Amino acid sequence: MAEVVIVETPERAGELVAEAILEQVGRRPDSVLGFATGSTPLVVYRALAAALERGDPRAVALSGIRGFALDEYVGLPAGHPESYAEVIRREVCDPLGIPVDRVAVPNGSLDGIETAGERYDRAIAEAGGVDLQILGIGTDGHIGFNEPGSSFASRTRVKTLTEQTRRDNARFFASPDEVPRHCLTQGLGTILEARHLVLLAFGAGKAEAVAAAVEGPLTASLPGSAVQLHPRATIVVDEAAAAGL
Ligand code: GLP
Repeated sequence: MAEVVIVETPERAGELVAEAILEQVGRRPDSVLGFATGSTPLVVYRALAAALERGDPRAVALSGIRGFALDEYVGLPAGHPESYAEVIRREVCDPLGIPVDRVAVPNGSLDGIETAGERYDRAIAEAGGVDLQILGIGTDGHIGFNEPGSSFASRTRVKTLTEQTRRDNARFFASPDEVPRHCLTQGLGTILEARHLVLLAFGAGKAEAVAAAVEGPLTASLPGSAVQLHPRATIVVDEAAAAGL
């Protein structure tokens, strides 16, 4: 059973998870961190930036970590502001003083896409695996971009985004048509290999997905339920997102 932590505000969740990350990095400055995109984890990155501003030595040490992002859109032009490579640079690397080349993002360019997943999994393994993986959850229960129907054993690979996910993410693009149809995402099997999973969710819109992920049956129809298979999963939610528990 995953550990569920219910907090009053997303900001409080950000502080808690930032502290877990700082503790990890304080213990092992060469830690491997798994970063998620989407709006949910931003509170974590902001809390880490605040720690860096306070001069917390563990936050200063973030510059020495290795990082891996969960996923990327396929086919966006290099440098597109909504490509996850750009989002990670803007929200994680720049504010936290982490050199961009220390955080890998799956390569979503069409060139070499057939082998990109395999190469990404190999890079994670060569780095020694992920120590702490931050996760959000989609309203359809996806983690990373593992949409419903994803195998629990899946590895990093190309997936087709559901219409629901494309609608959810349309807010980041000028028009819904601009949201890519495909992505490259760490598989559920890849994600489950991280040594500690920390899943965050806020707001009533996530309540159903959170309840199904944490307490529902293990099913590929709700990819987030894979967290129940993990020996060390922490779920950090606000009261609205915890409403279905
Ligand atoms: C996105 C990302 C996921 C993220 C989820 C929720 O599409 N690929 O990694 O967890 O959907 O996003 P948000 O946190 O913005 O609700």
